[in-house]
Amino acid sequence: MNKTILILALATAVAAGSACSGGGNGSKVGSDAAIEKRIDRILSGMTLTEKIGQMNQVSVGGSDEMMADAIRNGSVGSILNEVDPLKINEMQRIAVEESRLGIPLIVGRDVIHGFKTVFPIPLGIAATFDPGLAEEGARIAALEATACGVRWTFSPMLDIARDPRWGRIAEGSGEDPYLNSRMAVAMVRGYQGHTLDNTSMAACMKHFAGYGAAEGGRDYNSTNIPERLLRNIYLPAFKAAVDAGVMTVMTSFNDNDGIPSTGNSHILKDILRDEWGFDGFVVTDWNSMGEMISHGFAADRKEAAMVAANEGVDMDMMTFGFISHLEELVKEGKVKESVIDNAVRNILRVKILLGLFEQPYVDADAAEAACYTTAALEAARKTAEESVILLKNDGVLPLTGVRKVLVTGPLADAPHDQLGTWAFDGEKGRTVTPLAALRESGLDVVYVPGLAFSRDKSIDFSAVKAAARGVDAILAFVGEEAILSGEAHSLSDINLIGSQSELLKALRETGKPVVATVMAGRPLTVERDLGNVDALLYAFHPGTMGGPALARIILGEAEPGGRTPVTFLRTVGQVPMYYNHNMTGRPYNGETLLEGIGLEAGQTSLGNTSYYLDSGAQPLFPFGYGLTYTTFEYGNVVLDKDVYDADGVIEVSYDITNTGERKGTAVVQVYVRDLVGSIARPVKELKHFERVHLAAGEKKTMTARIPVSELAFWGRDMTFNVEPGEFTMWVGGNSASGIPVGFRVR
Ligand code: BGC
Repeated sequence: MNKTILILALATAVAAGSACSGGGNGSKVGSDAAIEKRIDRILSGMTLTEKIGQMNQVSVGGSDEMMADAIRNGSVGSILNEVDPLKINEMQRIAVEESRLGIPLIVGRDVIHGFKTVFPIPLGIAATFDPGLAEEGARIAALEATACGVRWTFSPMLDIARDPRWGRIAEGSGEDPYLNSRMAVAMVRGYQGHTLDNTSMAACMKHFAGYGAAEGGRDYNSTNIPERLLRNIYLPAFKAAVDAGVMTVMTSFNDNDGIPSTGNSHILKDILRDEWGFDGFVVTDWNSMGEMISHGFAADRKEAAMVAANEGVDMDMMTFGFISHLEELVKEGKVKESVIDNAVRNILRVKILLGLFEQPYVDADAAEAACYTTAALEAARKTAEESVILLKNDGVLPLTGVRKVLVTGPLADAPHDQLGTWAFDGEKGRTVTPLAALRESGLDVVYVPGLAFSRDKSIDFSAVKAAARGVDAILAFVGEEAILSGEAHSLSDINLIGSQSELLKALRETGKPVVATVMAGRPLTVERDLGNVDALLYAFHPGTMGGPALARIILGEAEPGGRTPVTFLRTVGQVPMYYNHNMTGRPYNGETLLEGIGLEAGQTSLGNTSYYLDSGAQPLFPFGYGLTYTTFEYGNVVLDKDVYDADGVIEVSYDITNTGERKGTAVVQVYVRDLVGSIARPVKELKHFERVHLAAGEKKTMTARIPVSELAFWGRDMTFNVEPGEFTMWVGGNSASGIPVGFRVR
């Protein structure tokens, strides 16, 4: 076909499909027959080399000229890490006008918790237990990023994390599959929009799969998740994202039971494609194809490329394995051309659905105005407020009648650290710190940081103590610098780092009320610090508007709205400890801890159940926990039936009363236990939550509806069913409390 005919054919193909038709024929990402036909036409005009080019993703950072040449000759299908709209437009121009086929690029970026306007880290967003806010945040991120030409984000991260040593616990929604699933759906909808248009940013669920179970919490480490556990705990959020139409998937770095995810067709094909019907595309993680060589799973890059292609990978991020070896592999008969066609088909489908063929360019002049809008900053503040968890309050919060305060601690004025991990595009200069916000509030603020940064080991606190003399209260901001969590940033000691605990102790010695706020990327072990503070707020790195959110909470203009999305441990030695564990054959029955046992020699037993002699069986704070400025009482928990059919809906009604003197928001949580199963079942599993707003003294009767199908799990015979039998349900304010009611499923 000569070039003119080819271009005409492509133009017709392009015109044939409406870019944003959205669903209709059961396609998960929204494709339809016209789009599939259009893909056929494009594919039929492509050479093998051009097809393989579509499967190659390259990061900017090298020479512009080389990148331009690569795009022009069709050997790049996607780029990542460019956010300048002018540069993106130029690269798109080369792709669309100068490459033989004119196929636009899809530009990716890690837009993880906001683009310019940075929201709390994902763990903080999870702490809101508010999928509506998560969706709004993702939508705002999409509006800002797509205005610059970024049409693909490597988010949401859906890795269940039961180990706070793992630095990437910051990037996900914590330990619970149900909370993770709700957040997954919200974020996919937010990024992609309810209907696809030029503000849709393709979401990428990652890391598929099991990455959060890295042994020892050490990033990139092997995982050993048996199939049933994988399906019951690690996969539900991914499945939920696929059902919500997520357009792309990223493979994970880990090997599970010896098989690296990038070469695991069981998850990439059997589960993802055949069981779930996913029809977007699969991208590797950064060089995870090449890393199959380090795993000892492939001998060289060529073999790694062969394995990845045959096992279900569509696009290579930064190994250059496909672009270097696929053509040869096809010629040698080691990879079928149909495998390549299929991968390209998946990639083109997403490009078409995003409308990139019709609108490859952005209006670069409009990009700036799309960022940091008042609405975005408001949403970021509100999300931060709802993410902050009140863990202790001896009655000092909210601060009232206070005129002069000492603001101290290494996180009080650390704009970069407050943004947290993966905030590539958020700017320090736009970040409002607690110090700035408290100064704005009209309080008389004395600021002595005490420690320069979180790892600072100084122990001379004389200046801080002297400054405390004349103040009414001390506001300390401690925690972790941004670089202490996130990728490759695991820790084996998760106490407050540096001399921060010593700082809190010194503050306690002043006799002034101490309100401490921890800003961190993980749930730190703060037990030893609790005695040194009158109140403790916990803010997973809260983003651009973290300062105003915290100031408003401290001063009582807003309430601390968060609940723990992960279990807070007493000591790192308790890892892994999570609320939805199995009962075991010898559950802890309240036996005495070592410190309560006498020192008689020759004792033969100190206890016979499942607990630590030195730290018990309970965490410091359970999953779902958080105080408010008021109190709530639950009562009258009633089910609409005693017995349900497997396809029924459980209606549970309950009364909730605000028994305090301020208005407040309860995060009502419903947990269920399946008493006897074909396999041992968790002691409790979250099945529903909702935020209920109540005026002081107000009582509401609420009804939660939970489909019985939510109780299904992968049982002994590896099928997914609701097993008939007895269940207990709890309605309450966290995973360690609640009013129980019983029911049966037949
Ligand atoms: C991370 C991914 C990320 C990718 C691209 C990798 O190192 O594991 O989560 O999306 O880099 O930046």
